[in-house]
Amino acid sequence: MSHSASKSPLKPDTRLAHAGRDPNSFHGFVNPPVVHASTVLYPDVETMVPGGQKYSYARRGNPTTDSLEDALRELEGAAGVKLANSGLNAVALALLSCVKSGDHILITDTAYQPTRHFADTVLPKFGVTAEYYDPKLGADIKTLFREETSAVFTEAPGSLTFEMQDVPAIAVAAHEIDATVLMDNTWATPLFCQPLALGVDLSIQAGTKYIVGHSDAMLGTVAASERAWKGLYDIHGAIGSHVAPDDVYLGLRGLRTLSVRLERHQRNTLAVLDWLKDQPQIEAVSYPALESDPGFAIWQRDFTGSSGLCGFDFKAGTTKEQAGVFLNALTLFGLGYSWGGFESLAIPARLKGMRTATSYDETRCSVRLHIGLEDPEDLVNDIKQALARAFG
Ligand SMILES: Cc1ncc(COP(=O)(O)O)c(C=O)c1O
Repeated sequence: MSHSASKSPLKPDTRLAHAGRDPNSFHGFVNPPVVHASTVLYPDVETMVPGGQKYSYARRGNPTTDSLEDALRELEGAAGVKLANSGLNAVALALLSCVKSGDHILITDTAYQPTRHFADTVLPKFGVTAEYYDPKLGADIKTLFREETSAVFTEAPGSLTFEMQDVPAIAVAAHEIDATVLMDNTWATPLFCQPLALGVDLSIQAGTKYIVGHSDAMLGTVAASERAWKGLYDIHGAIGSHVAPDDVYLGLRGLRTLSVRLERHQRNTLAVLDWLKDQPQIEAVSYPALESDPGFAIWQRDFTGSSGLCGFDFKAGTTKEQAGVFLNALTLFGLGYSWGGFESLAIPARLKGMRTATSYDETRCSVRLHIGLEDPEDLVNDIKQALARAFG
């Protein structure tokens, strides 16, 4: 199986620099204009009534949104892309585009918690039932299929616990019953994983993370395969989804440097984890790009790189208070519920209420780290002094 769904003969880095740009359309300026707009004027009623021009009303798109959608369509090898005002909004759009009343959908137990919240609280209002499944299920996902199963949602690696999924095997099984396959691919971005090449129909990005890349805007994107595109296009228009042009522009701007930033996130993360895994206070580190990780074989088969989000478990017996002292003592890692920017971050990884199809050790003390673009030696020293504070 090819790693890339893109039909472009150009290499990914070249596509990142050129996709979605047409300077000749904008007087030679390298970047497209940021179009602040609502109304679009028509020259005459003869053009207006049959809708005879490219743009009709800004909610449906403008040259700035087209530029980002075109760039992502090329990168993802998609039939079409729609933008959303956050990653969670992209998840909601994607799910709404492929379900109807009476449907049953399957969601990985390791999905981002607000994805579960949407599936548990909004979808039931419209007669859609979500069931959670063990992320380790590959082709065996079919044992959970019902006559009314219409979608399978995947996310790899899993939120907080970093399990990889056999997405191609799930996609083959799902397509046998004509179900739509979705993947939250925020961790790898379309640069390091191409969901559509793995058989996914709706590839979701919280663009807030690595695409924007600077912690200064919220954005979501959904890239659709041929079979899923009409559903996505229709629901996007029907619910009036729109992203402000300044935020779209920040996404476009971030995209151009995605490759160099991710390469550094990857290098720094490997350096920090290589040191961290051997510390006496640490039980295990979680990062599928490490040979010791249970997801390594799948990562190596399906992904071409890794990013800066990883986790670790303290040794058994570590108290929540000790973990708290550790987190409070960090000086270069901010405490914040996001990731994907240039800066390092940490959060306590609490799973309570976030797993229903699989079990987890409630006594385990875990931390999620985002390794930023700082010098890894400084990050290691910061973790070292915080461990010393917490453990003496
Ligand atoms: C894997 C994943 N998907 C989706 C989202 C949601 O993105 P946003 O915060 O832009 O709504 C997040 C946010 O942390 C995430 O980690």
